[in-house]
Amino acid sequence: MEILHVSAECYPIAKVGGLADVVGALPKYQFQAGHIAKVVMPAYNTRFFHSQEFELVHQGGCWLGHSWHHFNVWREVTNLLGFDLYLVDIPGLLDTERVYGYYNDTDRFLTFQIAVLDWLNEWQDHPDVVHVHDHHTALIPFMMTHSYKYERLRNIATVLTIHNAQYQGQFGWDRLYQLPGFDLWKAGLLGWEGAINPLAAGIKCAWRFTTVSPSYLEEMYTGAAGLEALMNYEKGKAIGILNGIDTKVWDPATDPMLPFNYDQKTFVKAKREIKQQLCEQYNLDPSLPLISFIGRLVGEKGADLLPEIIGRSIFEQKQQLNFLLLGSGDPHVEWSLQQTKLLTAANFNVQFGYDEALSHRIYAGSDFLLMPSRVEPCGLNQMYALRYGTVPIVRSVGGLKDTVTDFGEPGGFGIRFIHAAAWDACNAVGRAVELYSDTAQLQGIIKTMMQLDHSWDSAADEYLQLYSSIVVR
Ligand code: ADP
Ligand code: GLC
Repeated sequence: MEILHVSAECYPIAKVGGLADVVGALPKYQFQAGHIAKVVMPAYNTRFFHSQEFELVHQGGCWLGHSWHHFNVWREVTNLLGFDLYLVDIPGLLDTERVYGYYNDTDRFLTFQIAVLDWLNEWQDHPDVVHVHDHHTALIPFMMTHSYKYERLRNIATVLTIHNAQYQGQFGWDRLYQLPGFDLWKAGLLGWEGAINPLAAGIKCAWRFTTVSPSYLEEMYTGAAGLEALMNYEKGKAIGILNGIDTKVWDPATDPMLPFNYDQKTFVKAKREIKQQLCEQYNLDPSLPLISFIGRLVGEKGADLLPEIIGRSIFEQKQQLNFLLLGSGDPHVEWSLQQTKLLTAANFNVQFGYDEALSHRIYAGSDFLLMPSRVEPCGLNQMYALRYGTVPIVRSVGGLKDTVTDFGEPGGFGIRFIHAAAWDACNAVGRAVELYSDTAQLQGIIKTMMQLDHSWDSAADEYLQLYSSIVVR
C-alpha cells in the first residue's frame, strides 16, 4: 500500500510538539512493514533543509486572493529518515524560522495544501491513501472531493488524524474564494459556527478520522472545543488509535543525548549519575526526589497550576523534594514561575525555552514526571518517562488514562489523580514522595515500566487495517 502523510511538522526536520514525533515515526514503521510511506511538509528555513541533498520534483504556482505564489517540491534523496520525504518550498510564505505563530498562518497553510494537491494531481500513479494531520492540512479531503481542479484525486481514500481539537484553524467566509473552484452549494461542508473551520471540514469530508487515543475520542463526544455535535453526528467514521513512540530514538540504552546509557538491569547507577549532573547544573539537592515537567506552558497542559503545585508541595513536604521545569509558552505562567522560583530557589529551578537534548536528560535523570493536563489527546512525555524509568504522575485524562495505571492497582506503575486542581496534584506528589522512600518498591516499579512496549508496531497495524477497509482497488 502507498500512503502519503501531509503534515506541518515532522521530527527531526521541524518540531513544536508531539505531532512531529508521530509523523517522524509512524511512516518509518509503515515502511518497515513493507509499505511505501511518504511524508510531505513545508520547507521551513531549517538547518535540515540547507544541509541535506534534495532533487526538484515539481514546480508550480497558484493565486491566493490577489497574490501569486510560486512553489517547488523537493525530494530528499538519501532516504535518511527511513521513509520518503518531500518538502514544499513557497518563498515568502513557508521559508520562516518558526513553524507557527505568524499573522499570515492561514495563507501559509492554505497555500501549502494547494501546492500539495497541485503536485499530487500530476502523479502518474496515485497513493492509496492521503493521511492528513490536524487543521493545517485538514482542508485537503474537502478539496480532493469537491474541487474541479482535482477531479483525478476523487477516488483516493483520505484519513484525518486529530492530534489536538483545541486548534481548529478557523477563518472568515470572506476568504471562500481563495479555495480552488468547487460547487458553491458544497460550501456548507467548510463551515462550523459562523466561520470556515478546517478541522470541522476535515471531520466532515475525510473518509475516516482518528484521534490519538481511545479515551480522547470518548471525551470529544462531550468536550471537543465546540465540535461535540459534529463529533456525535460523524461518530460512524471515528476511531481512536493510541500513539506509539519511536523506540529507536527513545532508547536509554543507546540514546546519544545521555551522558550514561542504561537498561532494565543497569538503571540504578546510571539514573543516579544523570540525576547528580542535572542537580549540579540546576543547584538542587540530588538526595531528594526530583519531580520534573517538560512541555508547552499552556492551560491545556495545566501549566497555570504549576506555580501553586510547586509552592504548596514544597511547603507540605517540608522541602524534602525538588522540582525542575523545562518549557515555554504563556508569558503569565512564565512570570508566575519566576516568582515561585524567588521563594523556593533551594527546591525548584526552571529552564525556559526548547531544548531537545536537555529534555532527554530530564526524562532519564528525574524520579518522577508530572503531567497535570486538563486536556491530553495522547501525550508522549509519559511514554518517554516510562521507557526511561521515570514514574509518571498524571491527571486521569485522554491518553494519560490509556497509558498509565496507578501503582495502587494490580500491575500498576504510575501515579494518577482525578482533578485538574493543585490540591489533587499535591496529594499525588505526596504519594510520590512516600514511594521514593521505599527503594525496593520504587525499583520494582521502574523495572515494570521499562519493560512495557509502547512501540508503534501495534498502532501502525491498526492504521493499516483502517486504510485497508477504505481503499478503493
Ligand atoms: P504536545 O504535542 O501537546 O506538546 P506531547 O506530549 O504529545 O505534547 O509531545 C510533546 C513533545 O515535545 C515531546 O517530545 C516533548 O519531549 C517535547 N517538548 C515539549 N516541550 C519541550 C521543550 N521545552 N524542550 C524540549 N522538548 C520539548
Ligand atoms: C498533540 C496533543 C498530544 C499528542 C500529540 C501527538 O499535540 O496535544 O497529546 O500526544 O498531539 O499526537
